[in-house]
Formats: sequence, C-alpha cells, structure tokens
Amino acid sequence: MPRPGDFFTYTVGTESIIVLRDRSGEIRAFHNVCRHRGSRICKTEQGNAHRLVCPYHRWTYELDGSLVLDTRREFGVDKAELSLRPVAHRGRGRPAVRLALRARRRPTSPTRWPPSGAR
Ligand code: FES
Repeated sequence: MPRPGDFFTYTVGTESIIVLRDRSGEIRAFHNVCRHRGSRICKTEQGNAHRLVCPYHRWTYELDGSLVLDTRREFGVDKAELSLRPVAHRGRGRPAVRLALRARRRPTSPTRWPPSGAR
C-alpha cells in the first residue's frame, strides 16, 4: 500500500476489516461497518479511495475514519462519536499488518445511528 488511500479488506470470521494508508502515510485499520445503519462500506478486496463512502446512504468518512457529515444538525449527535471503529494493529510501514480483534464489549456509543429502537 504505497499511496495514500490504498486499501484492502480482510475478513476474520464474520468481521470485515478495512486496512488503509491515510494521507499522513500512517497505516490504519477499521471495522468495515458504517456507523449509520451498519452497511458494509468497502465491498471490494482492494483499491484506492479519496474517502470511504458507504454505498447505502453515502455517509462519507475521511481516511482517518472521521465522519464528514455534520450529524449534530440532523441527528443531534456530534460526528466525532460516529467515526469508524478502529482496529488495533501493528505493522507500521511493514508489508505485514497484524490486527488485534477483541471480543465484543458493549460500545460506549451506539454502533449504528440512530440506535435500534430509537426514533
Ligand atoms: S448505512 Fe451507511 S450511510 Fe446509511
């Protein structure tokens, strides 16, 4: 992944992970799950993207995982709470990236927005 925006997806069990190089050259890994309604964001195995755009309702994320949309005005929640969920990893600048998936814990903020059952 030599260029900013280069990415690949990786599946571990039922989890899909996006591994990418951000604009500063850092390797990042995220759960491949949109924070809006949980759609899979990247459906291709690899590529290059300026930003990550969910194909469902087009919520758009920067390469650092931050949400572009101003959710405070529309949903009353700060967009910083709806960034992509990061996956711990090692392998900065190396060809191999080691991912660390942990057993699911109850998230401190909703995984999807709006949360199930909310109106
Ligand atoms: S599920 Fe991703 S934008 Fe709605």
